[in-house]
Amino acid sequence: MTSRLRIAVQSKGRLAEGGMDLLKRCGLRFAYGRDKLHQRAENMPVDLMLVRDDDIPNFVGSGACDYGIVGENVLAEEQASSARARELEIALRLGFAGCTLKLAAPQDGDIRSVEHLAGKAIATSYPGLTARFLKDRGIEAEIVEMRGSVEVAPRLRIADAICDLVSSGATLQANGLKAFETVLRSEAVLIRRRSGRESDSDAIANILMRRAEGVIASAQTKYIMLNAPTDRLDAIRALLPGADAPTIAKVAGREDVVAVHAVCRERVFWETLEALEKEGARAILVLPIEKMLA
Ligand code: PRP
Ligand code: ZN
Repeated sequence: MTSRLRIAVQSKGRLAEGGMDLLKRCGLRFAYGRDKLHQRAENMPVDLMLVRDDDIPNFVGSGACDYGIVGENVLAEEQASSARARELEIALRLGFAGCTLKLAAPQDGDIRSVEHLAGKAIATSYPGLTARFLKDRGIEAEIVEMRGSVEVAPRLRIADAICDLVSSGATLQANGLKAFETVLRSEAVLIRRRSGRESDSDAIANILMRRAEGVIASAQTKYIMLNAPTDRLDAIRALLPGADAPTIAKVAGREDVVAVHAVCRERVFWETLEALEKEGARAILVLPIEKMLA
């Protein structure tokens, strides 16, 4: 009997939607309206546990779940403070929910660099990472641990500076704060225990990871089709971002023009399309790629 693979995912918050979306793109189907904690996949031996992000390293570390989808920030904080979390490893980087953990202080104040933090108080929900960062820099400061609303701490004089997650930067700006140092760069990651123990659900985990790699790769990859003047072909090929050898095909009834089809493994910006057009490319189409096995 093969046991079911258990994956811990965030129930709500910055990774919840992206995590479910990725799993669905990997082919998992879930029934609607099941209980809040469990989701059972209908078509594969996979169960999800929907929990708070901060609890995910524990769920995986304890063996309650085999894998977890969590922010690298949460994993790193857990690893900075708990020995058990050091047994966890990143199995796959998931390429969404990018953000940074930053030190920030009031815009109009005099804290503008890490050195200025000596003897000050720093509010954060990331005491482990903040303490380690300060220690590495040889700075002694007080850490004020807060569970949320860290950004209000300087205004309320609870602390002089903060160390908090920044994604769009809107929260900092709305609170008159300015970041001056990056402590950690983070994205969503798939985690598991480090141990080499074989488990019944390894096979299904490997299938899912292979599919996830394809989903992640195809999210950045586009299929470009265009018509190029035959004598501008080299210049046009050079502009295609991250393209493998493109397919060059005849255009019926034309000698001066060829059709170019290419898979581009980097983001395609408007600027690229405009440059292609300048070189004489016409009928430019950029298509999303839904699935890909490289
Ligand atoms: C983080 C952080 C800020 C906000 C920053 O909280 O604490 O409040 O996001 O995002 P912004 O730069 O786009 O404004 P999060 O949503 O992760 O909630 P949590 O701290 O409760 O996990
Ligand atoms: Zn949280």
